[in-house]
Amino acid sequence: MKITIIGTGYVGLVTGACLAEVGHDVFCLDVDQRKIAILNSGGIPIHEPGLDEVVARNVAAGRLRFSTDVEASVAHGDVQFIAVGTPPDEDGSADLQYVVAAARNIGKYMTSFKVVVDKSTVPVGTADRVSAAIAEELKSRQSALDFAVTSNPEFLKEGAAVADFMKPDRLVIGHANDTQGLRAQQIMREVYASFESAGHKIYWMDVRSAEFTKYAANAMLATRISFMNELANLADKVGVDIDAVRQGIGSDPRIGPGFLMAGCGYGGSCFPKDVQALVKTSQEYDYELKILRAVEEVNENQKHVLGSKIFAKYGKNLQGLKFALWGLAFKPDTDDMRAASSRVLIQELLRAGAHIVAFDPVATEEAQRVLALDFADAPVLLNQIHFARDAQTALSDADALVIVTEWKIFRSAELETIKSTLKHPVIFDGRNLFDPRTVKSLGMEYYPIGRAVLSQ
Ligand code: UDX
Repeated sequence: MKITIIGTGYVGLVTGACLAEVGHDVFCLDVDQRKIAILNSGGIPIHEPGLDEVVARNVAAGRLRFSTDVEASVAHGDVQFIAVGTPPDEDGSADLQYVVAAARNIGKYMTSFKVVVDKSTVPVGTADRVSAAIAEELKSRQSALDFAVTSNPEFLKEGAAVADFMKPDRLVIGHANDTQGLRAQQIMREVYASFESAGHKIYWMDVRSAEFTKYAANAMLATRISFMNELANLADKVGVDIDAVRQGIGSDPRIGPGFLMAGCGYGGSCFPKDVQALVKTSQEYDYELKILRAVEEVNENQKHVLGSKIFAKYGKNLQGLKFALWGLAFKPDTDDMRAASSRVLIQELLRAGAHIVAFDPVATEEAQRVLALDFADAPVLLNQIHFARDAQTALSDADALVIVTEWKIFRSAELETIKSTLKHPVIFDGRNLFDPRTVKSLGMEYYPIGRAVLSQ
């Protein structure tokens, strides 16, 4: 099957590479010449485990190509995936200008029936806007060509995107029930034929429900995290171990064990943006999503939880103190710094006069880029932060270790070594990586999230 992917960002590149992997003939289009040049010279513009191999294998097999040529790319695919960015507007709603521009290009250059697939996370009703944009372009060309717009949201997790794509929990595809919509359904069934025959279930539904499903999934996951974070904050006050509670409730199949880890807040490109966008959609329909507003507020507060614990111990003035900071990315196995909790903590610590020596296995460069923006009003403060080449170097001479991202190498670090390298044996752990009893038994001060009862 001939497929075009519009947008070679995170979602587009993974989708393109993985669809080539199952045998399709894929053309990836991007307006960013720099990105296409990197891809055409064998590089990968993002950090995603395993993606480089899939890309290399399929480029070599001639099934995967990258181009900035809009006309040739649109002409190529019978199926056109729109996988461009939908950044939040100032008011929190999703900015659809790139989605609409992609639709216009399809309308402008298509020469045969096209199935258009909304892959980007887009609010309910976007398929109608995509349809309208394509129809308008066709009309201005006086073309009678047919097309159908479907919705096929992605549920990829950064750091596990290739595996998530190749072995999806489920596929969600929304299509219309008219003649073109049913034709599109048949074509989409072919696109995902190898997944269906491997036992991965496709949930067929109407387009709006498919669009909404993506937001509902992310909103539910974000709600679980904020819910556990609120309980963790209370657990610290009432003398309860939140991790014991997590296991106790997670064993109930109605609740399930995933996404119940308390911590210093969620970040990334999806949860914050999608929760906000859904709240915004509800407002447009004169309905208030009270729970999701609270989820967002709790999460913003939770990004300050490590700072609060640090201020409670040292006071508001942190001058003369040096903190080792482990983890900058919003989660492990990515260099993504979008909405990362580390950014809030770094703001708090540097503005209070502290020094930081930070280490992240892959996100240092990206962190330097975003911190320059975060501190645009006071760039001199960035003289107080340095970046270490490995985890242990960051510890030396520090008054405390602060953990923000749950990288595996941090979890497996030797507590004895941490203790002997730090100036003072103090750990603020935003991801509950260690057993508080063990840390305590080594004579270290430990500040986890919602587990104070075991560490005091
Ligand atoms: C998420 C969804 O999981 C994915 O299905 C969707 O397609 C995109 O958004 P992603 O943003 O890559 O994926 O990250 P995820 O692994 O879900 O983690 C998000 C954040 O939640 C991280 O900051 C993580 O540290 C935090 N988290 C996760 C918790 O604080 N507690 C948990 O129990 C799980």
